[in-house]
Amino acid sequence: MLHLTLRQLRVFEAVASSLSYSRAAESLFLTQPAVSMQIKQLEEVTGVNLFEQLGKKIYLTEAGNEFHHYSRNILQQLQDAENMLTELKGLGSKLTISVASTASYIVPKLLAAFCQLHPQTKASMNVTNRETLLNQMAHNEVGLAIMGQPPEKLKLEATSFMQNQLVVIAPIHHPLAEERDISLNRLQQETFLIREQGSGTRVAMERFFAEQGIKLTTGTEMSTNEAIKQAAQAGMGLGIISLDAAALEIESGRLRVLNVQAFPIMRHWYIVHRRGKKLSSTEKAFKSFLIQETGPA
Ligand code: PGA
Repeated sequence: MLHLTLRQLRVFEAVASSLSYSRAAESLFLTQPAVSMQIKQLEEVTGVNLFEQLGKKIYLTEAGNEFHHYSRNILQQLQDAENMLTELKGLGSKLTISVASTASYIVPKLLAAFCQLHPQTKASMNVTNRETLLNQMAHNEVGLAIMGQPPEKLKLEATSFMQNQLVVIAPIHHPLAEERDISLNRLQQETFLIREQGSGTRVAMERFFAEQGIKLTTGTEMSTNEAIKQAAQAGMGLGIISLDAAALEIESGRLRVLNVQAFPIMRHWYIVHRRGKKLSSTEKAFKSFLIQETGPA
């Protein structure tokens, strides 16, 4: 049995995820020598080098990388245990959900309604893009997540709960703004703004046009929906975005949804967790609430 401490695991986790002793020290409110010391002791206990330094950067060694999967798992389990005890002690319940960036336009409203029904809930929501979220799920770093349909191979339990329609947006005076039934071929004459690699919206858009045999001209790449909307308004190109993410600008007349054949691209939102994960009663309640509240997808 390894004689290591939870403190060492926490320090390891902070260094492994930031790949920086100084950032880890900062996040843990420790000094850098204290962090180095904990890692040194952990390396002694485990009998392997967990990090290696190349130039100014540090990297996980192969052993470090493997060990990282276990440490994340242990810390996540500990978090689950803490949540369960807090609930049992009647001290209120914690609900942490991680959402793909586009879902941040629909989840807060649902979370607010849930918290009104369960006022003892302390909710927190992390926002990141789809790929980062899938990585975190694969490493058991997040419990409940909301995103577009996850890939089969990850052995996740995913339940769909709401539609997510992707539409083409344009500035209001765009030459196509008043046209109806715009063909997909016509879109080939336009330049499209595109979300960053790892975005679910981007994957869906690329898949859709590839299936239709359409090759779009893509221009500027932007890493948030907000930036896509601003750039589309400014005339930098057309955008493809979730209707929920652009609802405000569409309603207030700052952006137009183009009437394009075969659009909207129909997607769904999914509530996702690892298969076999023991959900706390609050997590279970939130999951059922989402499905009931929004109806079958
Ligand atoms: P996003 O979308 O990563 O483009 O914000 C979420 C998803 O479709 O999973």
